[in-house]
Amino acid sequence: MISASINRDTVAGWDAADPLRPFREEFDLPDSVIYLDGNSLGARPKAALPRLLQILDEEWGRDLIAGWTRHDWTGMPERIGTRIAKLIGAGAGEVTVADSTSINLFKALCAARQLAAPRREILAVADDFPTNLHIAQGVARIFPDVRLRILGKAALPAALGPDTAAVMMTQANFRTGELHDMADITARVQRHGALMIWDLSHTAGVLPIALNGCHVDLAVGCGYKYLNGGPGAPAYLFVAERHQTAIDPPLSGWMGHAAPFDFDPVYKPAPGIRRHLAGTPAVLSLAALETGIAIAERADLVLVREKSRRMGELFVARMKPLLESGAFRPGSPAGADQRGSQICFLHADAARLMQRLAQDNVIGDFRPPDVMRFGFAPLYNRYVEVWDAVEMIRKMAG
Ligand SMILES: Cc1ncc(COP(=O)(O)O)c(C=O)c1O
Repeated sequence: MISASINRDTVAGWDAADPLRPFREEFDLPDSVIYLDGNSLGARPKAALPRLLQILDEEWGRDLIAGWTRHDWTGMPERIGTRIAKLIGAGAGEVTVADSTSINLFKALCAARQLAAPRREILAVADDFPTNLHIAQGVARIFPDVRLRILGKAALPAALGPDTAAVMMTQANFRTGELHDMADITARVQRHGALMIWDLSHTAGVLPIALNGCHVDLAVGCGYKYLNGGPGAPAYLFVAERHQTAIDPPLSGWMGHAAPFDFDPVYKPAPGIRRHLAGTPAVLSLAALETGIAIAERADLVLVREKSRRMGELFVARMKPLLESGAFRPGSPAGADQRGSQICFLHADAARLMQRLAQDNVIGDFRPPDVMRFGFAPLYNRYVEVWDAVEMIRKMAG
């Protein structure tokens, strides 16, 4: 609980004592901007620029095709996958990095259909990120035996049954930030004999995740949010080791072949997680992502979570007069434990307000129809930024 009597100096004191403070120096962020949008696109690691220049100039420029072996470009999806695995409670060999989150979700859903056969029903929640629902709709179109049911979250437990093949959910809702209980939901789904697929896009890098601790089957996530991998960064796919050999990948490309450089016309899947690669790795994008991962893996995620919770509490405490007057309505769960690393407020004029905030260099997101969304990236955001952002909102509303 944050006391009503604090002032900006109190909050500046929190920044001075913040054990995560040095991480800000590792990002290129204009000082004039209050960037509360790391949940859409993370800030640029300073190391990304020299690393990309090095690849362009030396690895590609000088070594040309030899780069694939000399610099292990071919091994990047697995190498970076192993580094991401540590951030999400997975083991080495359970995560690969390629393609977009949408495409990895397609792979995960097809895998679940295969693993759970003859079960045929996929359950999804109605307020999930649209691409997740679109991809599931596509899977149901390709496989007419798949039945997709899109439900409100509250209807999910009763919908689980003997034909449920898989349930897919995003761990923190993209709009409201509502954090779902991974351990509890996974266990309930599996008690019904179904598989659980999580989208970690809004949680990886901002809170401790225990995929294997929760016995999760499959998971996907974005590289460009809290992992700071850059615009359109490659995404990742987790497949629990126990399932790997049973999956016949739907996108069976040569990079997932057991021996890609044998140029065998007949597809034979690689033994492990590599079978989920389809085409050539996006070396430049992977290299940028790796600079983001290299920062995240040095941070204590327990401290990151603590700071993110406190930032959310500070935001709410400062918004209190505006919420009490009815000028704004809360859009996120009330308790910090029930939220990911973002918060949203509802206002009929949200689009215009977010535009005005952006003109004053406070960057958040507008989500139709009336959502003002602010994300906290504890590795580079400061408590005073939260303070100043709400001051700006209060001024605008006054
Ligand atoms: C939960 C979730 N899944 C997926 C995506 C995007 O997927 P892709 O990287 O394929 O565009 C987003 C984008 O914000 C998202 O919030």
